[in-house]
Amino acid sequence: MFDREIDINPWIKITLIMSKPIIILGFAGSLRRNSYNKALLYAASELVPKDTKLEIFSLEGFPPFNQDLEDRMPQKVKEFKAKIRAADALLIATPEHNYSVPGVLKNAIDWASRPYDDNSFEGKPVAVMSASPGMLGGARAQYHLRQVLVSLNMHAINRPEVIVGSVDEKIDEKGNLTDEETRKRIGQLLESLVDWTKRLKKK
Ligand SMILES: Cc1cc2nc3c(=O)[nH]c(=O)nc-3n(C[C@H](O)[C@H](O)[C@H](O)COP(=O)(O)O)c2cc1C
Repeated sequence: MFDREIDINPWIKITLIMSKPIIILGFAGSLRRNSYNKALLYAASELVPKDTKLEIFSLEGFPPFNQDLEDRMPQKVKEFKAKIRAADALLIATPEHNYSVPGVLKNAIDWASRPYDDNSFEGKPVAVMSASPGMLGGARAQYHLRQVLVSLNMHAINRPEVIVGSVDEKIDEKGNLTDEETRKRIGQLLESLVDWTKRLKKK
């Protein structure tokens, strides 16, 4: 909910309470059909606070980044940039590949950050989750991603951290997140992201 002042005419000024939902755009750095990170995003879509919608965007179909194409962006990139612009906040779920962010995710981020004067991520609030069957839950990738978010001038939520280790034991064969503690943390992360988004909008 946002307060918005409207001038009807020079003598009348009214404040409307707008009940516009907060739109979060979520994407996962995995193309795998049964991706655990995608499963976290699906769980998040069930756990969003009221007056909030989570829209999930697939990173399928991005060509490898090529700076020569910046002045004629591929259609997929145009769609991604438009979705980011339209969203109030972002939610990223990242796997860990060789202790870092998967190339698929970095490639999509690099596209949307360009051209130089049209970084779609500029000033956006963002929350991050990571998941791995390993014990560290993709923590190393998550912290590489957080460094990238600084470069993009995004405003990331610091807590709660959602780092899901042994994720293969927490998601069932249908892709449902069954671990209650993880569901609770994702719910808290989303509350925190929405609160942060509203605070930034008031400025
Ligand atoms: C190229 C590659 C590198 C990987 N490196 C790591 C790693 O450094 N740390 C880790 O915890 N898991 C690593 N894994 C395992 C992934 O965590 C695992 O494949 C996971 O399921 C990927 O996430 P997804 O289910 O969302 O696709 C790696 C997997 C691949 C394919």
